Amino acid sequence: MRVLVTGAAGQLAFAIRQLWQEHELILPDEAQFNLGDPESVRNVVSGVKPQVLVNCGAFTQVDRCETEQETATRINGYAVGWLAEACDRHGAMLIQISTDYVFDGTGTRPYREEDPTNPQSVYGRTKLEGERQAATCRRHLIARTSWLYDAWGNNFLNTMIRAAAQGRNLRVVDDQRGSPTTCRVLARQLRAAAEQGWQGLVHTTCQGETSWHGFAEAIFAGKGIAADLSPCATADYPTPARRPAYSVLDGRRRKSLGTDLMPPWEEALAEVIARPELTKDL
Ligand SMILES: NC(=O)c1ccc[n+]([C@@H]2O[C@H](COP(=O)([O-])OP(=O)(O)OC[C@H]3O[C@@H](n4cnc5c(N)ncnc54)[C@H](OP(=O)(O)O)[C@@H]3O)[C@@H](O)[C@H]2O)c1
Repeated sequence: MRVLVTGAAGQLAFAIRQLWQEHELILPDEAQFNLGDPESVRNVVSGVKPQVLVNCGAFTQVDRCETEQETATRINGYAVGWLAEACDRHGAMLIQISTDYVFDGTGTRPYREEDPTNPQSVYGRTKLEGERQAATCRRHLIARTSWLYDAWGNNFLNTMIRAAAQGRNLRVVDDQRGSPTTCRVLARQLRAAAEQGWQGLVHTTCQGETSWHGFAEAIFAGKGIAADLSPCATADYPTPARRPAYSVLDGRRRKSLGTDLMPPWEEALAEVIARPELTKDL
């Protein structure tokens, strides 16, 4: 398949670059493929004529989205509509990556695909708009994921390791629960989904759940780092954007589709710690 990937400098795109090598991959950088510019979107898609387009590009800085709503709406929302239109023109399948932050977090059991959304942040609202836009594409897959990280990229794991190395006292929230998911397992799952032509909305997170504090504990235990770590409450550290207290996603629909490649989050973390370098064999 000829596959066009947006947001090439991001952490998920990096995993796709390594793990989809059997396919013809085109990963233009942001200067060549600017999601904020509809002309750029049309030109790149009609030049490449992909069979599959994976939209990894997004305005992902959740707190900054609160003050930069216009940019967030353009990149996370409108741009997906331009991609959908361009994909339809060329018969391409659009894979849109979405987020657990479309939910308000008041749930008491894992969220299913059909559960009502109610985003509490600009990021969540604009990503939900992205889902609506993606659904206008004849062939689309919307893959909701959560708490993405890997050995590379700007993410919680690397922030924790850096902060511990600086000897900082780490207070990490213990009252937000979700499912940490590695970029590499998501990239493998998306590859299978693209090859098998999955359609519609599918939850693609690692299995199980923890809090950010529990995740930090597991990172330090796995890396053998004696960090100065203690739990705190969300209320102790208010942030501009509200995050869901509980955003575990139910994986039954994914399992029913046949190829479930999402392991328990602890197993995925162990893989990152044991093999930080990503090669195409992983
Ligand atoms: N990270 C998470 O925890 C998480 C959780 C759930 C869902 N997701 C979704 O998963 C997808 C991949 O996320 P990620 O973690 O890989 O994010 P990431 O590392 O922040 O990558 C996103 C990339 O998009 C680029 N981008 C921003 N504006 C752009 C534009 N106008 N044109 C082209 N590229 C642009 C960013 O560039 P700059 O860095 O220069 O801005 C960045 O390289 C996103 O859709 C995100 O919403 C992420």
